[in-house]
Amino acid sequence: MEILIKNGRVIDPKNNINEKLDIVIKDGIISRIGKNLKEEGRNIINADKMIATPGFIDIHVHLREPGFEYKETIETGTMAAAAGGFTTVACMPNTKPVVHSKEIVKYIKEKSKRTGYVNVLIIGSITKGLEGKSISDINEMVEEGIVAISDDGKTPMDNEIMIKAFKEAKKYNIPLISHCEEHNLSNGGSINLGRASERTGIKGIPSAAEYLIVKRDIELCEATLSKLHVAHVSTKESVELIRRGKLKGLNLTCEVAPHHFILTDDIISLKDTYTKVNPPLRTSKDVEAIIEGIFDGTIDIIATDHAPHDEDSKKVEYSRAAFGISGLETAFSLSYTELVLNRNLPIDRLVEMLTVKPAEIIGIDKGSIEIGESADITIVDLNREYTIDSRQFYSKGKNTPFNGRKVKGKVIYTIVGGKVIYEKGEIRCL
Ligand code: DOR
Repeated sequence: MEILIKNGRVIDPKNNINEKLDIVIKDGIISRIGKNLKEEGRNIINADKMIATPGFIDIHVHLREPGFEYKETIETGTMAAAAGGFTTVACMPNTKPVVHSKEIVKYIKEKSKRTGYVNVLIIGSITKGLEGKSISDINEMVEEGIVAISDDGKTPMDNEIMIKAFKEAKKYNIPLISHCEEHNLSNGGSINLGRASERTGIKGIPSAAEYLIVKRDIELCEATLSKLHVAHVSTKESVELIRRGKLKGLNLTCEVAPHHFILTDDIISLKDTYTKVNPPLRTSKDVEAIIEGIFDGTIDIIATDHAPHDEDSKKVEYSRAAFGISGLETAFSLSYTELVLNRNLPIDRLVEMLTVKPAEIIGIDKGSIEIGESADITIVDLNREYTIDSRQFYSKGKNTPFNGRKVKGKVIYTIVGGKVIYEKGEIRCL
């Protein structure tokens, strides 16, 4: 059965399109794009007063499988993705076992095929067991299809190991995604070092814990002429270092998570561990620098760092609580409300940061609406206002500091490979 998406405003930044158009999907593929296309017995999706964009792509999620299925599974994490408008996600390797060999890549691939609601890409670890001591089996993981390497959640502190890793990534033309944290400086801290850590007595993490490694990795990227993608940028200094690195013409990109351009450490209280995330929430000076980086293109994309946790890992003393925010189901509305409505970022730029740009970074042929391409499409009602309530999440992780926040821009349909996976709040069975 063919699907006709009618009367939506199609926003496809890759092809410079922002106009009211109809889209026909046949056998999972986009077969026509045009004005006033006939209904001709097709299944109609009425997208009037809505936007239709390429399916969102999130290159930084934690699906927790294998090993932490009590926090999330590929099934629940990809349902959350679909509810958030994401048709492709790339999952981080800090699972149990760690994704450091072809067997584990194969396991996730197979499980995603059976239980995943959206496209799942896999990121292999840089070092075995994320221990920072010896390089993972990158060659065989690449053969199984990993799209990048990262020790996300940790930073290999040994420079020699990092040089080897950059060279390996270069050999296979994949990016090294760096979680930038100088562990000797973060050293058991839980929140940003500064006014909030003084006010609450919670141990702080200095900005330098991030930007010293951003600096190191940009230098190693330059020395090895390889691709570096900096994960979850949170400090003003990091933005400036990346800006300068880009001016030099390095193969350098970076991402930001919504919580790092919306929240500051002013909201932190000892009671609310949902605000605990790594890197930590910073100051308004950092938020403003990040916003500037989004506007001038220093920051390439938005990635959620979707980090679902079980309640037992969060309902403990602040210093012992797990780091992380469940992000897939709030990313679009938070970003739209903050960046487009509050700060006047053009909507096309927001869509670009969620579609074609992440696709380019991990080297996949997605992120646009083109005839002959797989129909991964997200339809959003920009006028729909709602209040975030994590009890409604498909994700097992209810841990968000955004509960109770009023936002605008609701995902209404998520279409993956021509199949409507999510429609008006409901996930369709596989
Ligand atoms: O807050 C975080 N949680 N930051 C990370 O880098 C890892 C993540 C997790 O795995 O929970």
